[in-house]
Amino acid sequence: MEVISGFSKLNRQQRIDYLTGHSKLNDSEGSHFHDFDAPDEENQRVFEDMIENYIGNFPLPIGMVTNLLLNDESLIVPFVTEESSVVAAASKAAKFWATRGGFRALVTSMTKKGQVHFTWNGDRDKIAILFPGIREKLLTACSDLTARMRQRGGGITEIQLIDKTRELADYFQLDVSFETADAMGANFINSCLETCASVLQNLTELNSQGNQVQIIMSILSNYTPGSKVKCHVECPVGELEDWDKDLTGEAFAKKFRQAVDIANVDISRAVTHNKGIFNGIDAVMVATGNDWRAVEASAHAYASRDGNYKGLTSISLDDNMFRYELELPLSVGTVGGITQIHPMVRKAMAIMNYPDAGKLMIIAAASGLANNFSSVSSLITTGIQKGHMRMHLTNILNQLNAKKEERENAISHFKEVTVGFAAVEDFIRQIRNEK
Ligand code: MEV
Repeated sequence: MEVISGFSKLNRQQRIDYLTGHSKLNDSEGSHFHDFDAPDEENQRVFEDMIENYIGNFPLPIGMVTNLLLNDESLIVPFVTEESSVVAAASKAAKFWATRGGFRALVTSMTKKGQVHFTWNGDRDKIAILFPGIREKLLTACSDLTARMRQRGGGITEIQLIDKTRELADYFQLDVSFETADAMGANFINSCLETCASVLQNLTELNSQGNQVQIIMSILSNYTPGSKVKCHVECPVGELEDWDKDLTGEAFAKKFRQAVDIANVDISRAVTHNKGIFNGIDAVMVATGNDWRAVEASAHAYASRDGNYKGLTSISLDDNMFRYELELPLSVGTVGGITQIHPMVRKAMAIMNYPDAGKLMIIAAASGLANNFSSVSSLITTGIQKGHMRMHLTNILNQLNAKKEERENAISHFKEVTVGFAAVEDFIRQIRNEK
């Protein structure tokens, strides 16, 4: 294998030329990497500076979920997604629930944490006794770093020593809790942790008489069960009939509960059930420049917190009321990161009237619940393919390079006919042959 060195030192055009010279990418395809450049220099620079080895911008569609009534406020929510049916599915559920009290959500906590992982070869009882004094030194050492965050109502809220020596020889953790106000706070947390680590390493009380602290690593934890949101919808069971006229409200609710129960006992279904939730949450995370990998990793770990991976939603049908709830950890930011510099993120935030972090948490949760409700409702009634493939029709037509007139004919024809790639291909071929 040829090891590439110096790629990062090349300018953008040289990198593209390298690719056309060393891969199956042809010259004409290479020139397309400029097609999605921002029209103004300032925004283009934002993209070029965002990552290493940059060669171009990669567009994804941004669409609006309408009628999301959340805690009595009607919102339009920007989704960025490549999946055709996601915006339509969330909008359908949002509209359904908008006339039934909407989504109700609350943030139950907003604590994040980070860890300094270290070894110490001394007496475990001694470090426990010394720790209250050490904690004060750590807080003092971080006080400059935390000053601005404290002014915004955040900062370090707790530092604990966790003794893990029974699991790994000499292994301890500093477990540090943070409130980061509206910031995702990754850089803030990691800077505090690294400061704590260097203090630990230099404390005479821990680093003398043959004892020594060895820092293994200092990093925030993306598992955020201390930063949680709950969201639910509810209506009388009878009203569920309005979703699908072929089922009574009672029959719909019963099947819906069975579907949720299945996601609680079967991992294969649970992952797909939760994936439907993330159709909405990720779309909001991407639109708002948030770290969707962190949000996903945390929620999937949370879904298996009792040792079995389960669906993240729960249902009750007490007193003839359908109540459907989503609870999950979510750690988001509305300041810092790329939130203020990415031109499209700024617009997404403006459309939602510049939510703070707590508000964005509930918007994301409601979006996730909307998508999941729509998916499960389709699955237990018409099946998913009908709506999904109808939305996917335009992708198929684009793949077949259908002309305007062919597209219009196909869209009208497939209103009544099941969409599938072969069926659409046959239909287009037929039109072309008739000409
Ligand atoms: C497709 O993107 C999402 C679904 O598979 C979710 C689900 O099965 O609940 C429809």
